[in-house]
Amino acid sequence: MNNTVFHNYHITRKDREKQLKQPGMVLWFTGLSGSGKSTIANAVEQDLFHSGYKTYTLDGDNIRQGINRGLGFTAEDRAENLRRIAEVAKLFVDAGQICIAAFVSPTKADRKLVKDIIGEDDFIEIFVDTPLEICEKRDVKGLYAKARKGEIKNFTGISAPYENPEHPDLIIKTEHKNVGQSAKAVTECIKSHLKSK
Ligand code: PPS
Repeated sequence: MNNTVFHNYHITRKDREKQLKQPGMVLWFTGLSGSGKSTIANAVEQDLFHSGYKTYTLDGDNIRQGINRGLGFTAEDRAENLRRIAEVAKLFVDAGQICIAAFVSPTKADRKLVKDIIGEDDFIEIFVDTPLEICEKRDVKGLYAKARKGEIKNFTGISAPYENPEHPDLIIKTEHKNVGQSAKAVTECIKSHLKSK
C-alpha cells in the first residue's frame, strides 16, 4: 500500500469529449526502426490537425530524451519505456485528445501491456510493415550498420526480436508507397472510425 487515494474530478472525460467534439483515442504505430512509423505518424497528425481534430504525438526518440531518459533497450527497459508511455497516452485519452504514438514496441507482450493499460476500445494498432532488408537499406540514422558491427546491442531486427502483430487494426505496407499514400490510408480509416463513434 502506498497510501494514495484516487480522486474523482467533476469534469469528466465525457465532458471534455463533448466540448472538443471528438472521442479520445490512441493511434499506436508499431514497426522496425526505420520502417517509417514517425514519418507516417507525422503526416497523419498534420492531416487530422488541419481537419480540425485535437491531436498530440508521442515519439520514441523524443520521449527517450525526456521522461524516459535513462532507459535503454534491454527487454526490461523497453517494457518499462512502453508502460510509462501507455500511461501518458491514457492521460491524453482522458483529456479527449487523439494521441498518436510511434514506438518500435517489438513484442506481442509489449503491445498487450500497452493495450491493457490504454483499454482496447480506445486503442488502434497500426503495423508499419516494412521488411527488415528495406529498413536496413534505408538506414537513415546509420544504426543498422552500427548494429551489424556489434556497436549497438539489442538492436531490433538484428540482435533483438521484432514479432509482427497478428491482428493489427491496420497494416501499412510502405514498400511501394510514398509517405503521402501511406498516411492517406491511415487517415481515411481513422476518419471513418471517428465518424462512427
Ligand atoms: S521500444 O522498443 O519501443 O522501447 O523503442 P523506442 O522507444 O520506439 O525507440 C526506438 C528508437 O531508438 C533508437 N534506437 C534503437 N531502436 C531499436 N533497438 C535499439 N537497440 C536501439 N537503439 C537506439 C532508434 O532510433 C529508434 O527510432 P526509430 O524511430 O524507431 O527508428
